[in-house]
Amino acid sequence: MAEAPLVEAAGLAVRYGVGADAVTAVAGVDLAIARGEVLGLVGESGCGKSTLGRAILRLVPVHGGRVRFDGTDITDLPERALRPLRPRMQIVFQDPFAALNPRKTVGQAVGDPLHAVLGLDRTMAEMKVAALLARVGLLPEHAERLPHEFSGGQRQRIGIARALALDPDFIVCDEPVSALDVSVRAQVLNLLADIRAERGLAMLFISHDLSVVEHIADRVAVMYLGRIVESGPARDLFAGPRHPYTRALVASVPRIGATDDTAVPIEGDPPSPRSVPAGCRFRSRCPRALPCCAAAEPPLAVDGAGRLLACFNP
Ligand SMILES: Nc1ncnc2c1ncn2[C@@H]1O[C@H](COP(=O)(O)OP(=O)(O)O)[C@@H](O)[C@H]1O
Ligand SMILES: [Mg+2]
Repeated sequence: MAEAPLVEAAGLAVRYGVGADAVTAVAGVDLAIARGEVLGLVGESGCGKSTLGRAILRLVPVHGGRVRFDGTDITDLPERALRPLRPRMQIVFQDPFAALNPRKTVGQAVGDPLHAVLGLDRTMAEMKVAALLARVGLLPEHAERLPHEFSGGQRQRIGIARALALDPDFIVCDEPVSALDVSVRAQVLNLLADIRAERGLAMLFISHDLSVVEHIADRVAVMYLGRIVESGPARDLFAGPRHPYTRALVASVPRIGATDDTAVPIEGDPPSPRSVPAGCRFRSRCPRALPCCAAAEPPLAVDGAGRLLACFNP
């Protein structure tokens, strides 16, 4: 029997606001991530990727469905009961320093959880901070400096060191290289890939850019307006995308796409989550929509090739 997943979501739903202003940002998502596995999560901006990643970590309120972490249903756990699990699940943000105190040194930023959670004394914490900084390619003296003294790539290395400090099993990487110059992007991606391999880390790796997840993800899930529309092994999915939306995304990155003359990059913006089309939510932008696509929402189901797919006319 296969080992139980480390992270599992079932029917997960997240809503922002109330009444007529409510927006359903995540509209019923099932996913599972095995120990040591990297699941790439792709889709256009606004489709709900960050919200999904945060809901899995219980950083935004869950409106419906369940989240399990290492066999424990954490959906309704009070924060107190969640506290022992928190160190095991971390997040790396697009700009980790937006959330950090600009007057705290890097040594404090990385070292604080070591005091607060592990109770390490000053000397032990300093040694551990130095080791973490070295691991992400920074120097020991960087611990004395303030956030504004670092470049974008260095800041992201610090964000990674901070996420690693408590030795997690799972990290949500939310667009971790999207704010970086192209020249620095590959270095930070390689660092994440190396660390993942060393530590057997599981990750939910979020990016609107398919070429970023290509190198690190084992499997990929494609999200559209709050739902997963296709998922499968990364290589298969990029070589043979099946959902018209995935095909359009892949076609917009010519280098990774299979030669597919019929797929064209998608135009315009997705509809607002306030006005989701009835039936298939991709219908209003789909070149292959049929009358039946307006009548019902296609379920995410295994197709003949073992791909999970939500489409009546792939
Ligand atoms: N705090 C919030 N309050 C209200 N709406 C939000 C909030 N955060 C995100 N949204 C909305 O939820 C939807 C999904 O957003 P998000 O999860 O950030 O998508 P992504 O990460 O894919 O760009 C968008 O329509 C966004 O405007
Ligand atoms: Mg986002």
